[in-house]
Amino acid sequence: MKIAEAAKKLETTPRTIRFYEEKGLIAPKKASNGYRIYAEEEVRDLRTILALREVGLSTKEIKKALEQNDDFTEYLHTQRSMLNEEMLQIRDMMATVDRMIEVSGKAGKEEQMMDMARELKGLKEKRTHWHDRWNFDHQARDYDDNIKTTGYRFNVHQDYEEALEKVHTWVDASHEERGVDIGAGTGNLTRLFLQQGISMAVVDQSKEMLKVCGEKHPGVETRLGHFLSLPLNDQEVDFVVSSYALHHLPDEDKELALQEIDRVLSDYGRVVIADLMFKDESNRKSTLESYQEEGNDEAVEAIEDEYYADRSRLIRWWEEHGYEVKVHQFHPILHLLYAQKMERGVS
Ligand SMILES: C[S@@+](CC[C@H](N)C(=O)[O-])C[C@H]1O[C@@H](n2cnc3c(N)ncnc32)[C@H](O)[C@@H]1O
Repeated sequence: MKIAEAAKKLETTPRTIRFYEEKGLIAPKKASNGYRIYAEEEVRDLRTILALREVGLSTKEIKKALEQNDDFTEYLHTQRSMLNEEMLQIRDMMATVDRMIEVSGKAGKEEQMMDMARELKGLKEKRTHWHDRWNFDHQARDYDDNIKTTGYRFNVHQDYEEALEKVHTWVDASHEERGVDIGAGTGNLTRLFLQQGISMAVVDQSKEMLKVCGEKHPGVETRLGHFLSLPLNDQEVDFVVSSYALHHLPDEDKELALQEIDRVLSDYGRVVIADLMFKDESNRKSTLESYQEEGNDEAVEAIEDEYYADRSRLIRWWEEHGYEVKVHQFHPILHLLYAQKMERGVS
């Protein structure tokens, strides 16, 4: 068909079609009279291009995906995660504007507004500048084998299976519920819910981890995102689980992560986290000192390379936000936290 017919069929303009041709996204053949002929293949590609442009993918990304004969899933995940970050940023801005309105008629407003703007800037950086220091993409393929190795004098995966089992038991999910596993990795915890027939989404900041997880658990809903920008709608899930992931988030960001979890959790929803942490700061200090006294450098280095939580801070945040909390400790640094949202939490 000719360009006018193709444009009509696709509810677009010949000019738009020409633009995509100029950008190298489509290459229709030319008839002997010089007219471009749009075969079914070009019309199908144009349909894809128009749809992907509408949700904000760049022509460059679309071109790459078309050239690689991709199924676009990865591009759509990336786009979703970017849009989600933007949405949260707009919310943060609106909340700041509201706070600014409150002080705008008062003395000293300039300084207060500046403080608010500074806070907002910090928040924006946290939401958008997540950086994976440990290169989990690189670890994804060998992850399941590596958790079986025990380390020389410090085994972070001691009681791993037991911890995942207990998270699953404590959530006590029913079939009509839906959950999310954050920092799901290859989906070892997710599997316990899937095999029970429970609907799960998995979130991870690593595309490779999500890929491996998807291969191990075909059909599982994978979403690219991170603790401070969860790619989920408000109150979308009945429970949130996470294992061995929160300790990759700096301590000063953990409360913001709890706030994000609170946003996506339904009323009376549960959060169950199994992770490496200390009871409190004095327990962190004494544990580190005892490893140092033993000369266990492996333990000290491993702990100092990551951000084991101060459990008391997490509990305090939940209690201040209307959650009921219970805890279990497997060994000196592996803890299980259960928190149930009893009222609407923070907004
Ligand atoms: C040690 S693995 C644990 C994987 C799995 N939950 C398990 O128990 O086997 C940590 C996982 O958390 C993910 N992760 C680290 N920081 C994260 C963050 N800020 N947001 C989301 N995922 C994160 C990593 O990509 C990795 O897949």
